[in-house]
Amino acid sequence: MAGTVSLPMENLPSRITLPNVSPANSELTNRGAYVARTADCMACHRDDYSGGVPIETPIGNIYSTNITPSTRYGIGNYTEADFKKALRKGRAPNHQLYPAMPYPSYHGMTDEDISALFAYFQTVPIVDTPPEKTTHLPFSLNIRSLMLAWNVINVPSTENRSGLTNTQQRGEYLVNNLEHCGTCHTPRNLTQGLDKDRYLSGAPLGKWFAPNITPDNDTGIGLWSEMDIVNYLRTGTLDKRAYAGGPMAEAVAHSIRYLTDEDLIAMASYLKVVPAIKTDDYLIPVNVSRLPQPVSDSITYDLLEQKDYLAQAKAETVTSVDSRISSHDVNDSNSPKDLYLIHCASCHGVDGYAQPDARYASIVGLSSIRRVKTDALVGVIAFGAKGAFNTAPKMPGFSKDLSPAQIASITNYVRVTFGGLPNSDVSAADVTRVIKEKS
Ligand code: HEC
Ligand code: HEC
Ligand code: HEC
Repeated sequence: MAGTVSLPMENLPSRITLPNVSPANSELTNRGAYVARTADCMACHRDDYSGGVPIETPIGNIYSTNITPSTRYGIGNYTEADFKKALRKGRAPNHQLYPAMPYPSYHGMTDEDISALFAYFQTVPIVDTPPEKTTHLPFSLNIRSLMLAWNVINVPSTENRSGLTNTQQRGEYLVNNLEHCGTCHTPRNLTQGLDKDRYLSGAPLGKWFAPNITPDNDTGIGLWSEMDIVNYLRTGTLDKRAYAGGPMAEAVAHSIRYLTDEDLIAMASYLKVVPAIKTDDYLIPVNVSRLPQPVSDSITYDLLEQKDYLAQAKAETVTSVDSRISSHDVNDSNSPKDLYLIHCASCHGVDGYAQPDARYASIVGLSSIRRVKTDALVGVIAFGAKGAFNTAPKMPGFSKDLSPAQIASITNYVRVTFGGLPNSDVSAADVTRVIKEKS
């Protein structure tokens, strides 16, 4: 049934209302503000669109530009046709843009959305200063005109599927063209374009890994219902299953959580029908009976109770050796549990349930601790996570304070205790390699 919405909407966590960023407040500019949110222009051009944010690429940092209507430093002289060319083809009036600006995804934006976006950008406050930093690549890499050949191979970055319902078509448009989920979740080909054959099947992303989000049951999100996907995308969490950290936390915070119910449902419905791709990054199914119970009903909310309980746990020195948790490399008197209590439990709780309301992640059952490939998890523990808002708590990195053997030991502890895995054998050598590769 094309276009019908089949999900129980009343169960949805409520939507974050879009701040009224456009003073003009007309229907057209408000629509443009919504398109700007869904396309997450702020992620790279800053909240005030003044630019200067570095985008890491294999050829070096490319800095975003000022896109306020300043005629000196921004896009005040752009016509709507210029704007359309920049979004769809990566052509600024005087030069070819690097694809750090996701025009290969925006290529498919509709004329109506581009017009609304253009009207909205006329109304954002002018920032009459140049970005703090601009792109300076060495001459040999200054390949702006070579990008034209690249574009022939890599633009557009996605293909439209046939046989979709109206709702799924809307979802496809959001996933591919506005939200550009594939720029993180689709692996790159040899030319750094998106590899269409491995669409949404997971890709490394700096210190993080954006997992497989195709509907494969063993390595992707095939076991998630549409409602699970909607809940995760709106709140960034899925109880005892998944958490949106790092770059995904930012995508949720700055863009995805503002989407209307209809648009979230459209994306979820579409993600269920993209081709399932099995990768070698298996998710070990969660065995709910092995997961710990919260220590008490109130402990996740009561900080003092949590503090007392932690003190008590630390006082009971752990002497028993748990054979499931490989810690053979640790040459000190602290057991894996001790290490966890000392370094992690103050934020994540003795029982792993943490303080979700204060944005300390509950780590019980998370997909990120149940993957066969553990590099991303080791990366989070070694380098930390900064949280999506200035006010969000940060996770410190432990690569300086703990030895690789200790980090391995904690990783194994977390996977077995809070992931419910039968065993885990991350070694000190694995940790050393990850730290070297991601530093
Ligand atoms: C993933 C990061 C990213 C996102 C998201 C993004 N941009 Fe950009 N954008 C860039 C970078 C980087 C540049 C500079 C590229 C270069 O110098 O070649 C740029 C350049 C531009 C330019 C060219 C300005 C000029 O004349 O130099 C325009 C216009 C623009 N972006 C508009 C937008 C709009 C509108 C959105 C949202 C629909 C958006 N961008 C989203 C990274 C991004
Ligand atoms: C800026 C990069 C980025 C963008 C854009 C992005 N993601 Fe993600 N996504 C990630 C990363 C990194 C993770 C892993 C987060 C973690 O483990 O804490 C993730 C996790 C997820 C997960 C959880 C998978 C699991 O097994 O736990 C889903 C579902 C997901 N993303 C869907 C989407 C969708 C849909 C979009 C577009 C609307 C999107 N993402 C856009 C980087 C991104
Ligand atoms: C000061 C508080 C703090 C400490 C100490 C801390 N964390 Fe975290 N941790 C956080 C916060 C906050 C997040 C969420 C980060 C985000 O939103 O990107 C997090 C996220 C995580 C995640 C989820 C990663 C993901 O995105 O899927 C894991 C796993 C984790 N921490 C494990 C640990 C381990 C193991 C330790 C001890 C070695 C530890 N943390 C110490 C605050 C802390």
